[in-house]
Amino acid sequence: KFIDKVSYTWQTPSNIALVKYWGKSNPQIPKNASISFTLNNCHTITTIDFERKRFSESKKVDFDLFFEGKEKEEFKPKIASFFKRIQEYCPYIFEYKMTINSENSFPHSSGIASSASGLSAIARCLMSLESKINPNLSSEFINKKTSFLARLGSGSASRSIEGPLVVWGNHPEIEGSSDLFGVKFSNKVHPIFNNYQDVILLVDKGEKQVSSTIGHGLMHNHPYAENRFQQANENLSKISKILQDGNIKEFIDLVESEALTLHAMMLTSNPYFILMKPNTLEIINKIWSYRKENKSNICFTLDAGANVHVLFPENEKEKVLQFIDNELSNYCQKKQYICDTVGLGAKQI
Ligand code: PMV
Repeated sequence: KFIDKVSYTWQTPSNIALVKYWGKSNPQIPKNASISFTLNNCHTITTIDFERKRFSESKKVDFDLFFEGKEKEEFKPKIASFFKRIQEYCPYIFEYKMTINSENSFPHSSGIASSASGLSAIARCLMSLESKINPNLSSEFINKKTSFLARLGSGSASRSIEGPLVVWGNHPEIEGSSDLFGVKFSNKVHPIFNNYQDVILLVDKGEKQVSSTIGHGLMHNHPYAENRFQQANENLSKISKILQDGNIKEFIDLVESEALTLHAMMLTSNPYFILMKPNTLEIINKIWSYRKENKSNICFTLDAGANVHVLFPENEKEKVLQFIDNELSNYCQKKQYICDTVGLGAKQI
């Protein structure tokens, strides 16, 4: 049953992988399973106004795009190719003229990947329309299909619908896991990981020299690729146990090793590239000394860039925030960092 005019607004988060996805085959099928913390404060809020086309109007996908109040022609090709990829699963998008209004909670071009939150927000608005057209859809189906669609926009976006932990990629030990969509990590997690903190240090806010699409591509014919995919799947088994047992020392080892291995894959690609900056390494060394000197459980992870995510349990918040403000912020551009915590996923507004 088609509706003439309707609009939906969703807030969807960014996420930070603990076991990394790096390498894929078509169409956006990951070479290994990954798991991430869903974030809370770093999010996108997107409204889509859907207006039913008149009978005589063209049945081409038709949308306008506004980002932070301004029309953004330069973002349109990415969204247009996303719609092209999903149109066979959402044929109703041909029936509507869409006006998309989007804003991010984090500073524009802060070097934080906005594709995960941005594309999951569009996917979630589309699924609201779909469930209006077909009111019998279960919430489980809606979550899975939202993640499925988001994945076709950006792989990691498939992990930005639910929280606090999401697995994407088929894995024998994760019930219901799939290469096609993310699923909530459903085992009971130890309370040490409740409300886990993530402070994102903005080391370099510039455009990345090598996009993640190119980076994933360089895993084809990479000499270490097969071992890496196997290692990631093994790390997923390990972290699944660690998250349940609360073995924080093992958590730290695994998470930091995953971050450095991701960058090691970049260092050993052909052509090779380096996304870390000197300040990324300064920060890592500072984190290691702080951990030792203060018997702390702070650790770091990295995504495909120079920024550092500082992860720590909530009970260390006060002391670690002081350390970040007094010391680590000196290695950030304009001393900027973003305080975040683990969150629960998409919210309708
Ligand atoms: O979703 P993409 O294609 O931007 O890839 C993201 C890859 C990493 O952020 C480096 C790792 C991950 O699992 O999120």
